[in-house]
Amino acid sequence: MGNAYGHFDDDAREYVVTRPDTPLPWLNVLGQDELFGLCTNTGGGYTFWRDARLRRLTRYRYNDAPYDSVGRYLFVRDGATVWNPGWKPTKTPLDRYECRHGLGYTRITGAKDGVEVELLFFVPPGEDAELWRTTVRNVGAVTKELTLFSYVEFCLYEALNDMTNFQRTYSIGEVEVDGGAIFHTTEYRERRDHLTMFGCTGEIAGFDTSRDAFVGVHNGLHEATVPFAGAAANSVAHGWNPIGSHQLDLRLEPGAEERFAFVLAYLHDPEPREQGRALLARYRDRDAVESAFAALGERWESLLSAFQVDCPDPHATRMANTWNPLQCMATFNLSRSASLYESGIGRGMGFRDSNQDLLGFVHLIPERARGRLLDLAATQLADGTCFHQYQPLTKQGNAEIGGDFYDDHLWLVLSSCAYVKETGDDSVLDEPVGYADTPGSGETLLHHLETSIAYTLSHRGPHGLPLIGHADWNDCLNLNCFSTEPDESFQTAGDVEGSVAESVMIAGLFLRACDELAALYRHLGRDEDAKRVDASSAEMLAVVEEHGWDGEWYVRAFDAAGEPVGSHTCDEGRIFIESQAWCVLGGAGRENGRARRALESVREHLGSEHGIVLHQPAYTRYRPELGEITSYPPGYKENAGVFSHNNTWITLAWCLEGEGERALETYLAICPSAREEAIETYRSEPYVYAQMIAGPDAATPGEAKNSWLTGTAAWAFVSLAQGILGIEPGYDGLRVNPCIPRGWGGYRVSRRFRGVLYEIEVANPDGVSRGVRSLHVDGREVAGDVIPLAAGGPVQVQVVLGAN
Ligand code: BGC
Repeated sequence: MGNAYGHFDDDAREYVVTRPDTPLPWLNVLGQDELFGLCTNTGGGYTFWRDARLRRLTRYRYNDAPYDSVGRYLFVRDGATVWNPGWKPTKTPLDRYECRHGLGYTRITGAKDGVEVELLFFVPPGEDAELWRTTVRNVGAVTKELTLFSYVEFCLYEALNDMTNFQRTYSIGEVEVDGGAIFHTTEYRERRDHLTMFGCTGEIAGFDTSRDAFVGVHNGLHEATVPFAGAAANSVAHGWNPIGSHQLDLRLEPGAEERFAFVLAYLHDPEPREQGRALLARYRDRDAVESAFAALGERWESLLSAFQVDCPDPHATRMANTWNPLQCMATFNLSRSASLYESGIGRGMGFRDSNQDLLGFVHLIPERARGRLLDLAATQLADGTCFHQYQPLTKQGNAEIGGDFYDDHLWLVLSSCAYVKETGDDSVLDEPVGYADTPGSGETLLHHLETSIAYTLSHRGPHGLPLIGHADWNDCLNLNCFSTEPDESFQTAGDVEGSVAESVMIAGLFLRACDELAALYRHLGRDEDAKRVDASSAEMLAVVEEHGWDGEWYVRAFDAAGEPVGSHTCDEGRIFIESQAWCVLGGAGRENGRARRALESVREHLGSEHGIVLHQPAYTRYRPELGEITSYPPGYKENAGVFSHNNTWITLAWCLEGEGERALETYLAICPSAREEAIETYRSEPYVYAQMIAGPDAATPGEAKNSWLTGTAAWAFVSLAQGILGIEPGYDGLRVNPCIPRGWGGYRVSRRFRGVLYEIEVANPDGVSRGVRSLHVDGREVAGDVIPLAAGGPVQVQVVLGAN
């Protein structure tokens, strides 16, 4: 199994890269709390604290050639040969190379000429530091005299300024060297109360802090002056480009081993230098490094124990148990801000994105999900619209993009309800969050949810459907922008005031949000409010069925001229995926068979071997009345690409229809693990979802792009855990409502819910797709399909599927 570049090691919960020249850099995300490192399979990437734009500690060059040429590097000089354990930047051929991406760590091992160097990169839990545990072994037969040089390039913190404002930045860079501690002190004298330290716990023979001195003004890193010369220049940077590099001289007898650590830390104590020195002193003790790494492992095992499955599909099992939660951790923390495809200076935290990301994360660390909900709600405006994005450090809405994406507010209803169902913590609803334009006004989170529903109700178009604003979930369906000006953004151009463009997808999302809010009200004992919300939902449902149905599927939208988008009457873009998904998830078509018809139409018209494409036929010319969607070449991104995110909604929709085979088929079509063998085409990491897989209309069908930061992570988890495996958190307990392929004999899930572990065993003796015939909890039969809330545990649950 595996492919030419690597394979899964399921027992170790690692992906093992066995060749460094992967089709694209394959990334891991280090860090769980506040300090994060993007780390590729050659050690490339950068480190930042909380906010990749405002607190970037090390530098990266996006759109570089070759890709991924800046990172955390160690040069090994052995005689006249200079090599790197991660192959880059020298690309000196190695005798052996291996990179193991694991849960919050990456371990790169390179060997050459009888020397083996292992670099273990990780961020200890709760620490604002990235550790590089370094082990150098003489595995040959002769004594080795080695010189090692570490390397990071500092970023002057504000990443946009750092890569644009050279007339200033080339004069402000400052460093201090204190033994093994290299402090990056730029701007510390004036406005900053923080430093970066790149320290080494080993014995230092030299250092460098000037890139010009270490690399050479006219050199690339692969031919850096100092490693090839074999001696540090002991340079002190004054302006230009500060770096951190240590020289270590090692003499190793055959069989001998040296171990030390590099520490890349963000220091923000009142005495940051003291803090840095103390950190180095602590990690000089090898056991401290080992226990920090052990703590990381324990932390992940504890997080993962919130949901583990053993089911007949190996891809689903592997993704749900390890990789999907790892990716959910990354999307929760980073939203769409920083990856190899998100530059960390643009988008910050997306309102709709982060609300959805929370759905796949809330069971892992509910307290953090709570904080996020309140942060998000605080960027909603009193009228119900929301800042589309906010900056993670300041938590302030991003004024450049503004708001008026008329789906945004509704996702807050879904995420808030998911949180309360997961935790039973009703108190969050009474938190006085206020609104972004009336901070301190003290309106509660529940008030925000009401405001969200009210906004959609009062912003409807001629058919009675919700207005779309700049766009709904599909940021590129811009029905009000009419852009003919290449220098403006599709997503902010145009006037939404007075427009009549409507979204059927938002209508479906609204139905779902109403269902959620009504259920919440019932849980709170507020039946009158529940009925009121139900009535709004019923009214919208009637509108959807009257104006949204096209004959074989749901229309996508009505444009600013009132013309349908995603209708059989269109020449291109006749059917779209999103309105089918959300109308079905919102309960439309349930009584009249349209839901099933719509899903069959999706399969028939949008299905492909690479997943379900966003619409068909692809747009072949630019249409100002539809916006950015028509600007992409056919088959890519929102123009009929396989947008992984919305495929997961179809998985869930098939579950509502009780079609287990279809649900799993949809789940697997975009599952990265299931694409591992097609890697030459797929190219991206086989262990995390990518935002987009090129569709059949593209020149490169099946090629994945933009891995890691996608809402697919959360929804893939929800669609598998709650849809297919059917373990749904509810207000009164865990509901068991599977929708599996008939061929599955059964499966096991262990689920931690409100602090109690439930060991659930599902048997399917009759080969059905759904329907609980019996439910036993700790040996006692329980009527219905809800496992009542328990205390203590572990609770043993036996479920038998079949006809009653
Ligand atoms: C954005 C999402 C959006 C999706 C579809 C992503 O890049 O982050 O907010 O829903 O594209 O357009």
